[in-house]
Amino acid sequence: MAQSNASAEAIEPTERKMRAKGVSVYYGDKKAIDNVDIDVYQEFVTAFIGPSGCGKSTFLRALNRMNDTIPSARVTGTIELDGDDIYASGMDVVQLRARVGMVFQKPNPFPKSIYDNIAYGPKIHGLAEGKAELDAIVEKSLRRAGLWEEVKDRLQDSGTALSGGQQQRLCIARAIAVDPEVILMDEPCSALDPIATAKIEELIDDLRGNYAIVIVTHSMQQAARVSQRTAFFHLGNLVEYGHTSDIFTNPTQQRTQDYITGRYG
Ligand SMILES: Nc1ncnc2c1ncn2[C@@H]1O[C@H](COP(=O)(O)OP(=O)(O)OP(=O)(O)O)[C@@H](O)[C@H]1O
Ligand SMILES: [Mg+2]
Repeated sequence: MAQSNASAEAIEPTERKMRAKGVSVYYGDKKAIDNVDIDVYQEFVTAFIGPSGCGKSTFLRALNRMNDTIPSARVTGTIELDGDDIYASGMDVVQLRARVGMVFQKPNPFPKSIYDNIAYGPKIHGLAEGKAELDAIVEKSLRRAGLWEEVKDRLQDSGTALSGGQQQRLCIARAIAVDPEVILMDEPCSALDPIATAKIEELIDDLRGNYAIVIVTHSMQQAARVSQRTAFFHLGNLVEYGHTSDIFTNPTQQRTQDYITGRYG
C-alpha cells in the first residue's frame, strides 16, 4: 500500500494546473453538476469522492471534454488548463485529450499487441521519428507504469491477454506515452483485486511527481492513501474541498461528516 502521505499533504502546491470556475454540466434539462469551483495542482493527487450519482464522473469528463461525446451534455462556466480556456472555440480537442489523459474504470486496452497499445498514441501525435524512438517511448512508458518487467518478452502478445491489473497498468502506460500533463482516473481499481489495487496505488504515488492526477474513487481508504486533496461531491454540488486529512478527520460540513461516517453512499 502507498505510505501515509501526511507530510506530502502539508506541502503547499506550487503550481495550479487546472482551474474550474462556476462549472455546471447538464444532460438535456437536467443539471448533473451545479456551479463547481475547483483547482487541481501539479504534483498533487486530487480525489473526488461522494455517493453514486452525485456527478463525479460527469465532472471528471468535463476536465478533458469527454462530455463532448455525449450529445445531450452541455457544460457552462470555465475550465482552464495552464490558464487557457479548454472550451474556447480554438481549442484542439484531440490535443487537449493528449495533455489531459484518461484512465477508465474498466481496463480497455485496444485489441492490438501490447506494443501497439502504447505506440498508437505517439504515432498519431507524431511524437516519434522512426522505430528506435518509438521503441524507446514504449519501453519508457511501460517502465513508468511498472509493467515493463512483466511484458518485455511478450510485447507482440495481445493487450487483452493480460490480467486485469496488468491491463489497467497498460492503459496507464498508454495514457503516459503521449506525454500528458494531467491524468484523470475514474475508479481505476474498482475492477481489480486487492493486490492489483495496491500496485496501482503505488504507481499513482510514483507518478504524482510528474503530473497532476485526479482520481474518482468509492474507497475512502484509497482516497486517504493516495491523495493530498479531496473533493466531496453530493447531489451535483461540491460540498467540501480541502486537505485530504482534514476532509477525513475534521470536515467542516455536516454532509461530509455523514458521508465519511457511512451514513449514506
Ligand atoms: N450520459 C448521460 N445521460 C444522461 N444522464 C446522465 C448521463 N451520465 C450521467 N447522467 C446522470 O448524471 C448524474 C451524475 O452521474 P455520474 O455518472 O456523473 O455520477 P457518479 O458520481 O460518477 O456516480 P457513480 O459513483 O455511480 O459512478 C446522475 O444522475 C446520472 O444519472
Ligand atoms: Mg462515476
